[in-house]
Amino acid sequence: MMIVARTIDEFRKLRSELPSPLGFVPTMGFLHEGHIALVHQSVDENKATVVSLFVNPTQFAPTEDLANYPRNEESDFRLLEAAGANVVFAPQAEEMYADNHETWVVLDHLTRRLEGTIRPTHFQGVATVVSQLFHIVEPQSAYFGQKDAQQVLVIDRMIRDLHYPVLLRVGETVREPDGLAMSSRNTYLSPEERLAGPVLRRSLDLAEELWLEGERDAERIRKEMTDLIEQEPLARVDYVSIADTRTLDEIHVIDRKALVSIAVRIGKTRLIDNAILPPGEPLIARRQP
Ligand code: PAF
Repeated sequence: MMIVARTIDEFRKLRSELPSPLGFVPTMGFLHEGHIALVHQSVDENKATVVSLFVNPTQFAPTEDLANYPRNEESDFRLLEAAGANVVFAPQAEEMYADNHETWVVLDHLTRRLEGTIRPTHFQGVATVVSQLFHIVEPQSAYFGQKDAQQVLVIDRMIRDLHYPVLLRVGETVREPDGLAMSSRNTYLSPEERLAGPVLRRSLDLAEELWLEGERDAERIRKEMTDLIEQEPLARVDYVSIADTRTLDEIHVIDRKALVSIAVRIGKTRLIDNAILPPGEPLIARRQP
């Protein structure tokens, strides 16, 4: 039977009873098939699985959707129990961040690229909460989705820099049948906007096709992708990036592994997606902690 812990103390009491290896899936709830695929992966690879449900306030800017972020705890619990999770950790913001909280995990470079140019405080919030959660949950492996590729690279860097004994596992992006990547934010799209959603995947397919035809000029590929997205009247490009996967610096010639990533606004909703070149390459190399 799945158990829900709502305080750090409650969780720690349960933690000591859990067998190793322990897999951990951090989430902000409102779960979709992408999250559940990560839970299945953890259940397959570990003796126990912990999932956190916590809408982390520090990764939202004051202008963002914290208050309206979709929540549905009952449905989340049902899905997690069916997927085989053993413990759900669902703390309160007041406990995770006491009034006088002043300790942050800040990365110098990776967090300033891509999403960081538009959401400058986002990754400080993500890295801090994931660091807190790693200390509380003490997992052997942690599971993150490739859809948030920059988040994966940031956490990978943090694990290495701070010597966490945690193996980072990356789950493939799970998509709707028309190619739109699953995201809790897809629920914000009106029916008309939803029809425009697959333009993100189409532009990534185009990048892969061009690369497979031998195109290595990153600027040409960025331009073709931008042109394709702009043909969709409801879509507005925030960025189209082709960057080195180690530094997230933009590259001119695609002569190494590259992350193709895009952020597109459809109406008021901001969607992100990505692909790796060469197609099929993993985002990060698998290694033991
Ligand atoms: O990917 C998410 O849902 C969040 O950024 C995470 C990793 C749970 C941290 O709040």
